[in-house]
Amino acid sequence: MEEPNQNRHDQLVLFINVSSHTPHTLLTLLPCSSNSMLGLTGTKLGCSEGGCGACTVMMSKFDPHSNRIIHQAINACLAPLCSLHHCAITTVEGIGSVGSKLHPVQEDSADSVQPLFDPEEFLPLDPTQDIIFPPELMTLSKEPVVSLRFRGERVLWVQPSSLTELLELKAAYPEARLVVGNTEVGIEMKFKNQLYPVILSPTNVQELRNIQFTENGMECGAAVTLTELGEVLREEVEKLPNYRTEIFQAVLEQLRWFAGRQIRNVAAVGGNIMTASPISDLNPVFMAAGCELTLVSKEGKRVVKMDEKFFTGYRKTILRSEEILLSIEIPYTKKGQYFSAFKQSPRREDDIATVTCGMNVVFGEGSNTVHDIKLSYGGMAPVTLLATDTCRQLIGRQWGEDLMEDACSLLAEEMSLSPSAPGGMVAYRRTLTISLFFKFFLTVQRKLAQENLSEGVRSDYESATELFHQDPPTGAQIYQAVPPGQSADDVVGRPMMHLSALKQATGEAVYCDDIPHYENELYLALVTSTKAHAHIISIETAEAMAVPGVVAFISAKDIPGSNKTGPVVSDETVFADNKVTCVGHIIGAVVADTQAHAQRAAKAVKISYEELQPVIVSIQDAITHQSFYQPVRVIENGDLIKGFQASDHIIEGEIHIGGQEHFYLETNCALAVPRGEDGEMELLVSTQAATKTQTAAAKALGVPASHVVCRVKRMGGGFGGKESRSTILSTAVAVAANKVKRPVRCMLDRDEDMLVSGGRHPFFGRYKVGFQKSGKVVALDVTYYCNAGNSLDLSLSILERALFHMDNCYSIPHIRGTGYMCKTNLPSNTAFRGFGGPQGMMVAESWISEVAQSCGLPAEQVRKMNLYQQGGITPFNQSLEQFTIDRCWDECITISDFSQRRARVELYNKQHRWTKRGLSIIPTKFGISFTATFLNQAGALVHIYTDGSVLITHGGTEMGQGLHTKMIQIASRTLEIPTSKIHISETSTNTVPNTSPTAASASSDLNGMAIYNACQTLLQRLKPYKTSKPKGNWEDWVTAAYFDRVNLSANGFYRTPDLGYSFETNSGRPFNYFTYGVAASEVEIDCLTGSHKNLHTSIVMDVGKSLNPALDIGQVEGAFMQGVGLFTLEELRYSPQGYLYTRGPGMYKIPAFGDIPTQLKVSLLRDAPNERAIFSSKAVGEPPLFLAASIFYAIKDAISAARAESGLSGPFRLDSPATPERIRNACQDKFTKLVPGTYTPWDMRV
Ligand SMILES: Cc1cc2nc3c(=O)[nH]c(=O)nc-3n(C[C@H](O)[C@H](O)[C@H](O)COP(=O)(O)OP(=O)(O)OC[C@H]3O[C@@H](n4cnc5c(N)ncnc54)[C@H](O)[C@@H]3O)c2cc1C
Ligand code: FES
Repeated sequence: MEEPNQNRHDQLVLFINVSSHTPHTLLTLLPCSSNSMLGLTGTKLGCSEGGCGACTVMMSKFDPHSNRIIHQAINACLAPLCSLHHCAITTVEGIGSVGSKLHPVQEDSADSVQPLFDPEEFLPLDPTQDIIFPPELMTLSKEPVVSLRFRGERVLWVQPSSLTELLELKAAYPEARLVVGNTEVGIEMKFKNQLYPVILSPTNVQELRNIQFTENGMECGAAVTLTELGEVLREEVEKLPNYRTEIFQAVLEQLRWFAGRQIRNVAAVGGNIMTASPISDLNPVFMAAGCELTLVSKEGKRVVKMDEKFFTGYRKTILRSEEILLSIEIPYTKKGQYFSAFKQSPRREDDIATVTCGMNVVFGEGSNTVHDIKLSYGGMAPVTLLATDTCRQLIGRQWGEDLMEDACSLLAEEMSLSPSAPGGMVAYRRTLTISLFFKFFLTVQRKLAQENLSEGVRSDYESATELFHQDPPTGAQIYQAVPPGQSADDVVGRPMMHLSALKQATGEAVYCDDIPHYENELYLALVTSTKAHAHIISIETAEAMAVPGVVAFISAKDIPGSNKTGPVVSDETVFADNKVTCVGHIIGAVVADTQAHAQRAAKAVKISYEELQPVIVSIQDAITHQSFYQPVRVIENGDLIKGFQASDHIIEGEIHIGGQEHFYLETNCALAVPRGEDGEMELLVSTQAATKTQTAAAKALGVPASHVVCRVKRMGGGFGGKESRSTILSTAVAVAANKVKRPVRCMLDRDEDMLVSGGRHPFFGRYKVGFQKSGKVVALDVTYYCNAGNSLDLSLSILERALFHMDNCYSIPHIRGTGYMCKTNLPSNTAFRGFGGPQGMMVAESWISEVAQSCGLPAEQVRKMNLYQQGGITPFNQSLEQFTIDRCWDECITISDFSQRRARVELYNKQHRWTKRGLSIIPTKFGISFTATFLNQAGALVHIYTDGSVLITHGGTEMGQGLHTKMIQIASRTLEIPTSKIHISETSTNTVPNTSPTAASASSDLNGMAIYNACQTLLQRLKPYKTSKPKGNWEDWVTAAYFDRVNLSANGFYRTPDLGYSFETNSGRPFNYFTYGVAASEVEIDCLTGSHKNLHTSIVMDVGKSLNPALDIGQVEGAFMQGVGLFTLEELRYSPQGYLYTRGPGMYKIPAFGDIPTQLKVSLLRDAPNERAIFSSKAVGEPPLFLAASIFYAIKDAISAARAESGLSGPFRLDSPATPERIRNACQDKFTKLVPGTYTPWDMRV
């Protein structure tokens, strides 16, 4: 055998979109197939960890064994280029484009007016469009297998052609990693800073790829992928009698919840075993099943059992370094043997387990006496565990209640966890081990009963034995058609497709990082603080500067202008100056020739700190230290003392509402191009705030704002996260470009973005509420605390909005709301869709649900009785005109079939002990306007060219919400020309200056009016030509005006009238009008695991006279689902030292398809014109988000039903989000009582 370290380098050949490529460096596929190398922009970087799917491509290869071409979806971010030798890759550009033919999948995904969730519409492949597999590859693939080696800058990749060669290599390089799917190794190299200089790829070694059946079971090669394993097991399960395949079925059940399809297509069985992760989903099954593993080295083979000795420590096994895993044998089961597997995770789909287990029991022949039992758990220790003590004591016992009770007590003792165990959720995890056993107990009891060996399972316990299943979602979208007389050319009010939808579906839409690279461009990587509160003692850059390609290190010293920055007050630094106040605080940056070099060098910058006290992380810490920003805000109305005196009852309560990560698909990105004279700088940025970007950069560069231009084409989502925080990157990039005098670009990786950019403010609400026996609320005293982080940013306006929404939709005669902004050592929290409104209203819904519980009345009755009426006066003295909540409420009751649904829920709950259903109906009222009055202005610039085409620029930015589409609809109606003649190219500060951020849901209102204003001016100028030639067309009039030397360019402006509120006098109007909506939701919870299913949601939303029902319904559905994430799923987890654990989709879960309600109906309220906005429309972006609280309170309703079974009634605290952990812990029962105790948290609630 040749020595692998000799300088041989084979040529790597792969095809991308049918043309061949021979890349030279060792990379994953993503950089190769993306903009920087091949100009293919459709494959996006969303996370680099296989968790978001944005980088999905199709991989095709010829499989000589089955003699067929295999096509599979894979993640380009994890696929090593070398693993794709002789493969064909098809990116989204390869299946269709706007200019040629669109693939039906592209068409379907662009069309937002379609019923969203009809699975029939998403057929995998259009049979009329053949996939082309390059004939050259076919020929190459049939050539004999040879050993290959590819050499990169730091890694040697060897692909041996035989087992002997593989074992020789492993003996020569015992530290070398075997890589099949790279779904573990890829993560270690990217995020854990691991470097493996030699990688061995065993995919051509047939012995590792074989699947064969023996007398005892199935023998599966270690390099068999999970998809292949699943296919073979499924066939066997179909062929064999049920009792033979209990373990196979359990493996299939685990695979059902194992990662996403792209991961399963490449990840191998051996990779899962050998990673030895304590939360592996397959290892507990293999251990409980007693699977045998064949290990092999140059010295020979040995067969070992996967038992309690196999895993020797965290991610360690008994394998010797020169050994590899060859195969695993998964046994058949026999009569009298029962096997189950369970996985519990925060999100059902594509999530890592909280606790996962395999459970195996063997009974004596024809009896219910336990002959052998194995219970294996993941998630309860640094290794996969066998509950050996518990199992030993169950052998010889009969399967009955006594066994169950004893097993639960034994498990409670044996499956203990250190109080500060990594991963946290200690009480929950311990309860789960018992609850999951109880499910197994019932499942086996049911099966024994079928054999007449046990009495059956009680009918109200049956649902506890069902495997989790969620039906695919279906949707209904109801909106009013345009009036019969409306001209066909008038598109306002019609469900017009988003004008970029097709380009987005084909990958042709240009985002910031898709902008072609300049020849001399450099890449920037941030250097950030690892301490939450510290002095910087020194910054050592020598090692970083030695990394190839590095050009400069940038720090505070390189700022020619001011290092002080901030959107409202300048209380931040561009680069930390001596002191850091959060983990993630930007200290400096490295610029280099490539992203890889810049990032490697940034990691090599050494910073020493002197840590400072206190480190204030949570709201509770801030209260303890009285660490608040000023001012403290108060809104008060009525007479509180009188109100409480007049109340029949007074209750007090609290709720904590967790923060939220924006998780825009496109992370923050900026490109700065020095213009070479007069300090001019061009900034191309993914931002909602072009003007803020311009002024922040100008201030840091020490040049007038007029020398800096900011341009925004579109964003891949903003949600408020790019309203002010995008400037922390764009300013740093501008400073770097100014220093090196070359274009500099940076697009943050997901983990960096999550670390530095802040998110939604966590809130804590404390309330005292007085009410009558009837449920009528009389008095409320509520205090809000928000976690603002290490700078003020927009926190004051956010807190004010929370106070403006403290009443939600309820009329309270005597009320006081007080708000504090907590100054903490977290990255500054910022704007997020709803801007404090959802948190303000969530507290309101908490106290009103507790009022209902205290009165013993249905919550919907108490909510309805407290609703405002037309003309009602809010605590800030604004009268509610054109009030439509009552109409929305009644329609929502009707379309959700609420009364019958309530009756069905009650019946269900009587018949089921361990699953419960809950129902709620929640209203929302959202004030429209920026609460900072001066921001309620907008400008537009409209040019008509001599060919009749029209170019519009306005102050708003496009972030996927469809703003530009609506603006073109408005211009089209005003100018009376088709939309095809109108274009919007970008937003830029040199066309429309002094723009307000695209935020507060108000951009259609403001910019729409400004465009209308400009178009009216132009119409006036064209009027003489229309009048003189009424039969002429648009082009005729434009040409005539031009030759008559008429100015065909006009700007427009709008300021919202009658606005302005004073906290001092509690007078003046903060809002132009309100957007209203109501939602009713039904859920089902599993009381044993805390999982829940969203069964039904009906939403009725008043968006005035919709400008575009397709876009508006899209906004309602999108906002609602983002709210579902906020209130039920998404949890940012911090260490007590302020370190963020959740830095990517692996640990931070946003809603998946399975979280969409099985039935989701959205109805736009009919005949509800709004006279205060353009063409009688209403703002829609933020208001529907809060309606997801209907899911939260339906969960709370279901938990109440579960608690009633344990004799518990009355109010109880449920914090947001309602995660499985919180749901399970709130459903107190005999199992939760087995794990009492207090815990030192591994993470803390901030
Ligand atoms: C987005 C995502 C989701 C995931 N979801 C889940 C999940 O739901 N459940 C779960 O359990 N895991 C999950 N994982 C973890 C991972 O996908 C699995 O562990 C997978 O099976 C690893 O296989 P692989 O082929 O990709 O491993 P690789 O990364 O190629 O290798 C992993 C390790 O195994 C070693 N190895 C591989 N084969 C052998 C062999 N034959 N002999 C000796 N050593 C070997 C390698 O050297 C390496 O150390 C997820 C990972 C990602 C990125
Ligand atoms: S970027 Fe590859 S899955 Fe997210």
